[in-house]
Amino acid sequence: MKGIVFTTFNDMVENRIGISCWESLLEKVKPASGGIYTAVEDFPDEELVAMLGHLSSMTGKPVDELLTSFGQYLFHALATKHPVFVTDKTDLFEFLKSIDGVIHKEVEKLYESPNLPEITCEQASARVLLLNYRSPRRLCHLADGLIRGAAKQFNTEVLVSHDLCMHDGNDHCAFRIQKVDERNI
Ligand code: HEM
Repeated sequence: MKGIVFTTFNDMVENRIGISCWESLLEKVKPASGGIYTAVEDFPDEELVAMLGHLSSMTGKPVDELLTSFGQYLFHALATKHPVFVTDKTDLFEFLKSIDGVIHKEVEKLYESPNLPEITCEQASARVLLLNYRSPRRLCHLADGLIRGAAKQFNTEVLVSHDLCMHDGNDHCAFRIQKVDERNI
């Protein structure tokens, strides 16, 4: 996992809860980096998973819920760092359809060997987009948050349902994203 994911997680914990929470996560997980993460370097996925587990015990919130909140926070950070991807599109569905073939392709040039998921989209109707997620890391709750973060960015109210999940033994996760307001169609 790239350092940008960890630095953003660090920001979220410090801004939403406080620096003492971040310090106690470092104390519990004892990352080899000592908590000094740089954006383009790789750090073990297990460190993030362990921090989420401790954060869950500290806050009483389930790990899946924390990952979805983090996805929303991460989207905002990625879009701020790489504004061209969001200014390039005016519609949420057009944006989501461009993740695999455009955005993550560019990410491959900007970050050395990133671990990216496979995302395919199918427009079921004017209001509904079906998005399939595949990744050996099974970070579908992070994807859920990233989708919600993108919807906020494009001022589009959506209902997101997670209809199939890799954690239930499926080979991919299926999301159904429905626009609520007709003005966004
Ligand atoms: C501005 C738009 C975006 C940028 C710049 C971006 C960039 C990135 C970067 C840098 C990573 C980390 C790679 C690594 O750790 O090695 C990543 C991972 C990921 N991206 Fe994107 N991303 C964007 C939008 C999205 C959206 C909207 C989704 C929603 C489906 C998404 C799904 C994911 C997921 C789930 C991962 C974690 C890796 C995995 O699942 O295996 N990304 N992305």
